[in-house]
Amino acid sequence: MKNKSVKIGRNTLCPCGSGQKYKNCCRNKKLKISIREEYKKRYDIRLKTPEEIRGIRKCGDLLMSIMDRVETMIAPGLKTDDINTFVHEETLRAGAVPAPLNYRGFPKSVCVSINEVICHGIPGERILKDGDIVNVDITPILDGYYADASKTFFVGTPTPDGEKIVRIAARSLKRGIETVAPGATLGDIGHAIQSYAEGEGCSVVREFVGHGVGIDFHEQPQVLHFGSPGKGVSLVPGMVFTIEPMINLGKRDLHVLEDQWTAVTNDGKLSAQFEQTILVTEKGWESLTPYAL
Ligand code: MF3
Ligand code: CO
Ligand code: CO
Repeated sequence: MKNKSVKIGRNTLCPCGSGQKYKNCCRNKKLKISIREEYKKRYDIRLKTPEEIRGIRKCGDLLMSIMDRVETMIAPGLKTDDINTFVHEETLRAGAVPAPLNYRGFPKSVCVSINEVICHGIPGERILKDGDIVNVDITPILDGYYADASKTFFVGTPTPDGEKIVRIAARSLKRGIETVAPGATLGDIGHAIQSYAEGEGCSVVREFVGHGVGIDFHEQPQVLHFGSPGKGVSLVPGMVFTIEPMINLGKRDLHVLEDQWTAVTNDGKLSAQFEQTILVTEKGWESLTPYAL
């Protein structure tokens, strides 16, 4: 018997009957499926489906509504534990769960990091004072979906050093985000952040990195805030990860306190951080935890 099957051309009508060209229809879907499988196999990166993206976006909206209300509370005299209580209660009230609580033994529902604290500050009896900078890092789990974001706020009147490091940390995240597009690489993001921050005379923390997020708190890939253009995994639509540069006014070296969590600068100088959850789209990017930078 003669084999009557013919190769389907890119420009022929799709055999599925859609009336579209094959290249714009099922060929694309096949490619998409194989990219999904390849990213899982090669990198353990889970590309998100439209339904998953909707879930993460909804979680991000809740996160930002809590963040906006935290912002209005920040003032000299506020106890960091009061931020924890607020975030914890508002998260539960929305039918969500605070991801930090009991995560690898973390004892509270939010990270609150003041001045020389780089990240993972544990809320407690410490009281905010005029001139402090304070990072609040919030991660709810809503309907099983995670979104992760943080902002650094001024307490009362900022000092010149405070103003400088907060401005440069925010712009570092902005530079990183604006690099995101299909075809760019993780190294491009790291390089954009590092070259900007170091160009301003600041330093980039290496020990903590951004991460895939959405179905779990910390997924692949790791998103380094330093690196070389063109290196690392290529970005493809459906990737969801955080970018969360920690920028120090002095040197980048750090140590972790006895509590096993609080990371502080060795030189005692200020550190600031901003974090958003970013989706790679066909056109570029969308923040699932949007705020102005
Ligand atoms: N939210 C942090 C991040 O950006 C992780 C905090 S882990 C915790 O990845 F246990 F301290 F909450
Ligand atoms: Co994060
Ligand atoms: Co975070």
